[in-house]
Amino acid sequence: MMTYLVTGGAGFIGGHVARALLARGERVVAIDNFNDYYDPAIKRHNAARLREYDKFHMIEGDIRDVALVDRLFAKRGITHVAHLAAMAGVRESVRQPRLYLDVNLTGALNLLEAGRAADIKQFVLASTSSVYGRTKILPFVETDSADRPLAAYPASKRAAELLAHTYHNLFGMQVTALRFFNVYGPAGRPDMMPWRLLEATQSGERIKLFNGGDIHRDWTYIADTVTGVLAALDRPLGFEIINLGCGAPISLKDFVELIEKFTGKTIDKVSVATPASDPPITYCDNRKARELLGFAPAISVEDGLRRTWDWFRDYRGL
Ligand SMILES: NC(=O)c1ccc[n+]([C@@H]2O[C@H](COP(=O)([O-])OP(=O)(O)OC[C@H]3O[C@@H](n4cnc5c(N)ncnc54)[C@H](O)[C@@H]3O)[C@@H](O)[C@H]2O)c1
Repeated sequence: MMTYLVTGGAGFIGGHVARALLARGERVVAIDNFNDYYDPAIKRHNAARLREYDKFHMIEGDIRDVALVDRLFAKRGITHVAHLAAMAGVRESVRQPRLYLDVNLTGALNLLEAGRAADIKQFVLASTSSVYGRTKILPFVETDSADRPLAAYPASKRAAELLAHTYHNLFGMQVTALRFFNVYGPAGRPDMMPWRLLEATQSGERIKLFNGGDIHRDWTYIADTVTGVLAALDRPLGFEIINLGCGAPISLKDFVELIEKFTGKTIDKVSVATPASDPPITYCDNRKARELLGFAPAISVEDGLRRTWDWFRDYRGL
């Protein structure tokens, strides 16, 4: 009997991954501490939707709690882990490096330790395109050493990848680290650009654009990301680090224009300098994901933004 643990299961990607697993009939346990990095009501809403499934169990708890994590693996018979819980904001990590390292590195350690004791079949670790920093190698490719992180967040994620390798080496744990690229879509994160821009079309709030919007991001629609995560859970590969992104970066300026087009509103924008924590571009070479996971991102940024806007309208009752 297989049981999937989705950490951060009340969050954006975790909520979608948990639902996709439940929809195909799996048993899913989620753990989340419902912290207030962004409005926890959104996480409560995500968790409530998951509770509609019989095979779902939600644990409100912290991955830094070693006893809780150990008990959870022993009691629930966990066989597969999608480790998505994290503190995920780049700029907030500049202000709170200790918290980021505690949750993202020590938290990962707790899950790897418990996973080893439980002899799990597959461990999928959420990593990030931001480990590539300001690399000159474009598109971003896994063979890049990715050893110049720009902030504590990517440093903590890169460190977790390295630690995960240790568990593969010493104990033969099957680990796939997925480097997500700028994931967006329905029930997305309110601290990220897509949601903030959609909000701004309603509130009129002024939005700061780094370098006048002349930065590029490789936006990846949530459904494509979820398909990749499930493929990684289904295919133990030894130890692999795999980019999971659309592979079609667009400028922030064009991204904003798309949102203005769909919403019929003009956003009040102001240019600010790009902070030292943020790269000028994210750009995914996804050939490895295509080869090893059968990954084939299907939703263009135009399509994805239109779907996100449809969801937002419904969510806000517009
Ligand atoms: N969204 C993106 O574009 C993106 C890009 C790259 C990587 N990632 C990674 O993907 C994963 C999911 O990101 P997301 O966008 O869904 O973010 P999210 O913040 O919506 O989800 C993370 C969840 O983890 C939970 N969490 C945080 N600390 C915890 C703790 N100590 N104990 C238990 N739960 C805790 C949060 O409450 C939240 O619900 C993260 O690991 C993130 O770093 C996301």
